[in-house]
Amino acid sequence: MTNIAILASGNGTNAQRIIEYFVGSADINIAVVITNKEDAFVRDRARRFGIKEVYLSKADFNNPSKLCQVFYRHRVDWIVLAGFLLLIPKEVINAYNNRIINIHPALLPKYGGKGMYGMNVHKAVIANKDKHSGITIHYVNEVYDDGKIIFKTKCKVTPDDTPETLAEKIHQLEYEYFPKVIEDLIR
Ligand code: GAR
Repeated sequence: MTNIAILASGNGTNAQRIIEYFVGSADINIAVVITNKEDAFVRDRARRFGIKEVYLSKADFNNPSKLCQVFYRHRVDWIVLAGFLLLIPKEVINAYNNRIINIHPALLPKYGGKGMYGMNVHKAVIANKDKHSGITIHYVNEVYDDGKIIFKTKCKVTPDDTPETLAEKIHQLEYEYFPKVIEDLIR
């Protein structure tokens, strides 16, 4: 059995989609959902599916041995960032070499880096009148949105799109592709 930890900072619709996708899988298991926000809705989503969830403060996230303790306790093999907004400490990246991935709601390297997350990204894409946006799934290193790209796909941005309608288009792409990319990587 391959155990996944999902890290999420907020609502957690991607986390839920991944959880649903792997329900009943014979060889891939969502072992734990970990968040850095005490009131993140992703915690309710995890509990609803009977998945263990853990809250860690930002200080705990920055403490590699604390963080690794949680991963080891849940026998985590892969770490999936799904709307997670903190950097992962170097020691953890080394311990899980090429087994930590992130999804970004734009076509990296455009619209990446610190502060570029969620609606900030969609607002910037609309403000620049880009014709396309999309999603990027990549390995995680010590720099925001910088690791090797695994998968990208795009969608059209139309003149009537708002940050909200674009966010919805991007979420649909994420729901469709993220679980499959995770599955393909692990298998
Ligand atoms: C997703 O669109 C994800 O790509 C983005 O946050 C959203 C979380 O939505 N992640 C980033 O911006 C990371 N830089 P969700 O909580 O509903 O899954």
